[in-house]
Amino acid sequence: MNCANAEKKNPRPLWTDAAGKTVKVIDQRLLPHEYVIAELKNLDDIIRAIKEMYVRGAPLIGATAACGVCLIAVHAPEQNAENYLKEECARLRASRPTAVNLAWAVDRMLPHLLAEKNKEKRIAAAWEEAETIIELEAENCRKIGEYGLPLIREISKKKGGKTVNLLTHCNAGWLACIEWGTATAPMYAAHMAGIDIHVWVDETRPLNQGARLTAWELGKAGIKHTVITDNAGGHLMQHGMVDMVITGTDRSTYTGDVANKIGTYLKALAAKDNNIPFYVALPSTTFDRTLRDGVREIPIEERDPDEIRFIQGYEKGSIKSVLVPPEDSPAGNYAFDVTPARLVSGFITERGICRAEEKDIRRLFPDQ
Ligand code: MRU
Repeated sequence: MNCANAEKKNPRPLWTDAAGKTVKVIDQRLLPHEYVIAELKNLDDIIRAIKEMYVRGAPLIGATAACGVCLIAVHAPEQNAENYLKEECARLRASRPTAVNLAWAVDRMLPHLLAEKNKEKRIAAAWEEAETIIELEAENCRKIGEYGLPLIREISKKKGGKTVNLLTHCNAGWLACIEWGTATAPMYAAHMAGIDIHVWVDETRPLNQGARLTAWELGKAGIKHTVITDNAGGHLMQHGMVDMVITGTDRSTYTGDVANKIGTYLKALAAKDNNIPFYVALPSTTFDRTLRDGVREIPIEERDPDEIRFIQGYEKGSIKSVLVPPEDSPAGNYAFDVTPARLVSGFITERGICRAEEKDIRRLFPDQ
C-alpha cells in the first residue's frame, strides 16, 4: 500500500522506478476500496496487467505497453536480439484487441529498439521514447480539457448559470489516461473555472468502471456526481436532466465511428432522440486511420463470462464476489460497442473540436 501517489495533486496511474527496471501501476481492479500498487518486472507481468485490467483505458494501455517494450529491451539477449524483440512486441501487441493505443505504442516503440545494436543504449532509447509517450498523453488530455471547456461554458450561459448536467459512461478519467482523462478533462476544466456542473455516472456493468473509478475520481476532485444504473440515461434525457453527454473512446475511425465501452451506443441513440449533444473526447492516438467502417471492422473484445455472472463489492472490510444469475445460465460478455458517426455531435481532441467525419478530422490532423 502506497498512498503517496494517491494523495498527490496530480496522481498518475503508472510510473517507473528510478533504475528503469520495473513499472509500478495502481491495481484498478480493487479501487475504490483498496489502493494497491502492483510492481511489473517483465513482459509477462505487463501482459497480465493489461489482460486482467489492473490497467485499462486506451491511453493508459498504450503507456503501459510502451513501458512493456522497455522491459522487453531490458530482458533481451545481448547478441542477435532482433527476432526476440520483434516476437515479444508481437505478443504484447495482441494482449487486448479493441484499444488501438496498444498497437500504436508498440509500433512507435519497436523501431527505436531495432535502430540500436548496443543493449544499454537500446534500453536508454526505449525509456526515453516511453517517457515521451507518457508526457504526450498527459498533455493531450490537458488540451482536451481546454477545448472542451467552451462547450460547457456555453450551456451554462444558456441556463443562466444553473447547474450543467453532464452524463458519462465507463471511466475515461485520469486512471485511464495518465492525467486529466479524456471525457473528464472538460469536466475538471469547467469545475476549476467555477462553472456549476453535476455528472451522471453510468455504473457501467459488468466491471463497474463508472461506479468504482469515475465516481472515485470525481469525488476526490470535489465534483458533484451521482451514480446511476446503465439503463437510467434515457429516462433522465427525456426529462431534461441531461444537458450533454461526453464519453471517451478506445478506437475511433477517421470516418467518425466510435468504439467505446459496451452500452455507449444506446446512450448515443437516446441522446439523438432527445436532441442532446453527444461528444466524444479523444487524443489523436486513439484514431485508427486504417479502418473505414467501425461497426464492421473494429474488433470487439469478448471477455470471461464470469465478469457478468459474478459481481464484486465491498463488505465488512474486504472485497467479495457474488454470483448473480442461476449457476448454470450462460452469459455473454461483449466489452465494447460501436457508435456510428451519425450519432456523434463532435470529437474533442488535443487540437480542437471537429465533426465526426473524415474531412473535418483531417482538417485538424493534416499531418497524420
Ligand atoms: O475495458 P476498459 O476499462 O479498458 O475500457 C476502456 C474504457 O474505460 C472506456 O471504454 C473509456 O471510455 C475509453 S478509454 C479512455
